[in-house]
Amino acid sequence: MSDTRAVPRHLAVIMDGNGRWAEQRRRPRIIGHRAGARAVQRCLEFCLERGVEVLTLYAFSSENWGRPAEEVGGLMKLFAGTLEREAEEMHRRGICLRFIGDRSRFSAALQAKMQAAEALTRGNTRMTLAIAASYGGRQDLAMAARQLAEQVAQGQLRPEEIDEARLGQHTALADLPPPDLMIRTGGDLRISNFLLWQLAYAELWFTPQLWPDFDRDTLQQAFDDFAARQRRFGLTPAQLAPAPQGHSQV
Ligand code: IPE
Ligand code: IPE
Ligand code: MG
Repeated sequence: MSDTRAVPRHLAVIMDGNGRWAEQRRRPRIIGHRAGARAVQRCLEFCLERGVEVLTLYAFSSENWGRPAEEVGGLMKLFAGTLEREAEEMHRRGICLRFIGDRSRFSAALQAKMQAAEALTRGNTRMTLAIAASYGGRQDLAMAARQLAEQVAQGQLRPEEIDEARLGQHTALADLPPPDLMIRTGGDLRISNFLLWQLAYAELWFTPQLWPDFDRDTLQQAFDDFAARQRRFGLTPAQLAPAPQGHSQV
């Protein structure tokens, strides 16, 4: 039975396992990150085919800045090179690219590339690709709180007007549907400070597969599992079931 609900509108991915993939091959960790960039292409391709509207990829966390300088430097070079190479291609494919996270920590040159890629692809509507880089969920919430506090300080907002909806409006990706499905590769069962607010009702799916090995079969398996789940959002199964024909209640 074909089921169009099956496809998540918004897929969020924690792309983990690059370092271990390289270590298994006795290669430097950066080799794993490069292989990870190729897995991004496979994932993107699949999502475009399936009509996923938003793909959010966790590329670099606020905590990842604490890694050895050599690895951080290698990752920055990889980001810059990938952006340089792929921005035009993303644009050609109708993808709207955006970045979430504290970009002030990136070099001026990289910030300029990010901004240029966003400006180039702003009008595209086929898919939004959000890259979480220098991103932390706690920082995202702290910034939202700060913005509301500024409004209160300026007399534009009363504290009692602050509610979930208003706080949510100031978090990253607020203009997009929240993630329906969150996938983490690499075998660890945790969120690692990813979209803490936005994932409140996402379905979570984990695989031991390392990110550079991530392929269509794995993604299909995740989508199949997602399609088989019942999302209840706090309600009972009976509330969600369509009322049987001719009966108001069973
Ligand atoms: C994820 O892979 C990519 C980044 C965090 C940049 P890791 O580098 O964390 O890979 P493992 O978890 O050490 O294998
Ligand atoms: C999460 O992976 C961050 C990204 C994939 C970008 P980590 O490898 O940094 O997560 P922890 O530290 O193992 O939780
Ligand atoms: Mg890791």
